Amino acid sequence: MTQQISSLSDYKDAYKRSIEDPELFWATQAETFHWHKPWDKVLTWNFETPEIKWFEGGKLNITYNCLDRHIADRGDDTAIIWEPNDPFGGVKSYTYNELLESVCKVANALKANGIKKGDRVVFYMPMVPELAIGVLACARIGAVHSVVFAGFSAQALADRINDAEAKMVICSDFNSRGSKSIPVKQVVDDALAKGCPSIEHVLMDRNTGGEVPWSESIDLHWDEQVDPQDGFCAPEIMDSEDMLFILYTSGSTGKPKGVVHTCGGYMVYTCYSFKNVFQYQPGDIYWCTADIGWITGHSYIVYGPLLAGATTVMFEGVPTYPDAGRFWQVCEKLGVNQFYTAPTAIRALMARGDEWPAKYDLSALKVIGSVGEPINEEAWHWYDKHIGKNQVPIIDTWWQTETGGIMLTPLPGITDAKPTYCSYPMPGIQPVLVNADGELIEENDAEGLLCIKFPWPAIIRTTYGDHERCRQTYFSTFKGMYFTGDGARRDSDGRIRVIGRVDDVINVSGHRMGTAEVENAIDEHPNVIESAVVGYPHDIKGQGIYAYVITDGKAGENFEKEVLAVVTKEIGPIAKPDKIQIVSGLPKTRSGKIMRRILRKVASGETENLGDISTLLNPEIVDEVMKGAK
Ligand code: WT7
Repeated sequence: MTQQISSLSDYKDAYKRSIEDPELFWATQAETFHWHKPWDKVLTWNFETPEIKWFEGGKLNITYNCLDRHIADRGDDTAIIWEPNDPFGGVKSYTYNELLESVCKVANALKANGIKKGDRVVFYMPMVPELAIGVLACARIGAVHSVVFAGFSAQALADRINDAEAKMVICSDFNSRGSKSIPVKQVVDDALAKGCPSIEHVLMDRNTGGEVPWSESIDLHWDEQVDPQDGFCAPEIMDSEDMLFILYTSGSTGKPKGVVHTCGGYMVYTCYSFKNVFQYQPGDIYWCTADIGWITGHSYIVYGPLLAGATTVMFEGVPTYPDAGRFWQVCEKLGVNQFYTAPTAIRALMARGDEWPAKYDLSALKVIGSVGEPINEEAWHWYDKHIGKNQVPIIDTWWQTETGGIMLTPLPGITDAKPTYCSYPMPGIQPVLVNADGELIEENDAEGLLCIKFPWPAIIRTTYGDHERCRQTYFSTFKGMYFTGDGARRDSDGRIRVIGRVDDVINVSGHRMGTAEVENAIDEHPNVIESAVVGYPHDIKGQGIYAYVITDGKAGENFEKEVLAVVTKEIGPIAKPDKIQIVSGLPKTRSGKIMRRILRKVASGETENLGDISTLLNPEIVDEVMKGAK
């Protein structure tokens, strides 16, 4: 079994060993898994090209380790508890035995429809058990899954399908979220209508029931395909560095990129981090409220917990349906021991009042976690007081789609926790702060750019179909280091606090958004000449989206609504600007670059200290922008 740190001296010792001899440290962790053939070499790395290989030559299947490996000891233990959107809808649960059988059936159905090792399969589904089962079924046969968050638009879905040249889309008929019903299958059809030549089939799970558009030549019913299949499917034997999945994420330029994770290293790191960060003990009920459409759901709803043989809760709904007590009602009902959510949810629930958590018994909680964006001091204290009752350790976990697993976090009950600080690196993680010239900042009580100077097993391997983009984005800014895109501060005791992105990426309710992506969407409106998008502090969302727009002067009175509709169509509702300001020009440097620094300040309500504007091509515009600020 994966090693578990249980005291401060254990942590210090593990950390020391992981730095002095990382290969020995990770090989020791990797040995606790089932390998069909042991690896030849623990680590090969080069951060220039980049080329990173962990456990090269090793043969494994991650689902064998998530499922088959546990059958003998805990086949009848609960693997997944599914809590539906409807609070009276009835919990569904799967034991490890049942989950293995379900995964095998779907794996056989995929095979029967021509899916084989290396093929890409896109998921566009709500949080139903079939999503976790389908993802594991892909991994079972070596197909590469790419889960697209079901809130993205048809256009965004089509872009992702085409970038990955996926052969199949797996979807549901509808998605029930809160009181809404979203026509998922219709969105898939709309995406395919835009042209997705690689798609051979759409496999649809009947979730809510109801009429859906149907094409006999393309569409397949989940039940018809899956039910007749055999309940066992031999795991495809994968190389450690074979691709496990692609997950698209936004960057500062261009279209979202497909972050690639591979089998061996991702397995070792997600399991190790899960067991240690949450201090999971056998029998505990663990709940991460994320959506499997994001990396948090991949690593800490599906893979990490199942690799550790845990009981993981999957929640279909939203925090405020039917009321703002839903999270706490579910915690009480299921006896949740570890709870992991996002600051935006904490802030939204905090705004609804202290009486909601007060109604429920939260005494089973042993660890409460936060992820996705910086947690502000007020939200941290509310979480501590009203959810943890000042007794339960809070873990503020920092990581990224690209890091595969949690990188910086307090260990609950083991290391100290300071509000708003992700604090300490996990064993094997070597964070550094550098200045703009890439020089190491050695001293404490300092701010800088957060980089990681040594590989860990779950580090990004490439961006799908465009390795150069991976090099450029993460490994070219500072030589020999992985650059996170985040700014951070280190306090006088060495704890780290991640402040936020230093690139043109904004974090809206824990969702990563490229400003360029939103601008491109806005520019699709026929009356828009140019736009510039920046983030600004938002009470609930963390950051809101502020758009400055230059029009051709012919925009109608519904212009703002139309812009929101265009963005919803191009990306999805999560990218809708919170504020739109029409301007006659944008502050630009003499080389024609937009001075975002000024736009960010105005959007944040700052009108003094705009800094030096004398180098602008058009300094006169600043006054207009300021006067019209929303
Ligand atoms: C970005 C990564 C990996 C979890 C989901 C988000 C920000 C994430 C924290 C935190 C401060 C955080 C960073 C990071 N972020 N967690 N605990 N404190 N900032 O994954 O979409 O890849 O976004 O989220 O800015 O770079 P993601």
